[in-house]
Amino acid sequence: MGRAGPLHLYYADRRCLADDLVATLVTAADRERSAALTHPRRRAEFLAGRALLRYALEQFTGRSGPSHELRVTAEGKPECVAGPAISLSHSGEILACAVAAGSSIGVDVETRKPRTPAMALAAQYFSAFEVSWVEADPDRRFQMLWVLKEAYLKALGMGLAGGLGSLECRVEPPLIEARIAEGEAPPNLGLFAGRTCHLGVAWFGEPTRPINVASWFPAGGEDVLGPFERFATTGAPQ
Ligand SMILES: CC(C)(COP(=O)(O)OP(=O)(O)OC[C@H]1O[C@@H](n2cnc3c(N)ncnc32)[C@H](O)[C@@H]1OP(=O)(O)O)[C@@H](O)C(=O)NCCC(=O)NCCS
Repeated sequence: MGRAGPLHLYYADRRCLADDLVATLVTAADRERSAALTHPRRRAEFLAGRALLRYALEQFTGRSGPSHELRVTAEGKPECVAGPAISLSHSGEILACAVAAGSSIGVDVETRKPRTPAMALAAQYFSAFEVSWVEADPDRRFQMLWVLKEAYLKALGMGLAGGLGSLECRVEPPLIEARIAEGEAPPNLGLFAGRTCHLGVAWFGEPTRPINVASWFPAGGEDVLGPFERFATTGAPQ
């Protein structure tokens, strides 16, 4: 195992997270932040995300979830003050988070088929190489490249403003080649395939870190997503 240690990814289904459980994990500051969101569905999504992050932090540090101070950068990236790197993603009722030692990590989960045909979106956002790769299995491969690119942009802390074209992914399982503009630090990437969805993770620094993917179904319920299998990574699989 490398010095930086493993990356921990957790996923959950919001329909299986009871309100009272979420309430025991989130803090007054989380509630205050959620109050600024106008749509009730978005408020519930935000609080479920905070609960998942705090659960993951509890597992990682051994300290209670609510004891961690979370802040958000001007660009929207959540950070744990004096704690590990974190990242969060939602897709429909599904949420996923990442926690790891280090300065920055990005995660993205996607369960939905795009409303616009995948090839049209690929032509708009992806490089010529990526478009030709997507063509062989459009819905699935579009989703794979999308989660990798979003994970990268989240690790950078930029969100979509960073531009989906700033990273080109050449996926040849079990390997991914990440191409970025000259002079930029290349990300390390991991791509995991669930039953009908994909999970992407991006981080900088040590390239070969173990990646653990675990579900969080505290009250039982059917896991319609997992198990997640490792599909491809940059660097040697661990
Ligand atoms: C950040 C972004 C990549 C999120 O992508 P998405 O697929 O829509 O949503 P996801 O659920 O995967 O990710 C959302 C989470 O990413 C995190 N996030 C938001 N901005 C981020 C950033 N700049 N860097 C890293 N993480 C970020 C947050 O935790 C957020 O969830 P939360 O608000 O519930 O805490 C993308 O939406 C974006 O850049 N948005 C910019 C803002 C925007 O476009 N607004 C629309 C016009 S009003």
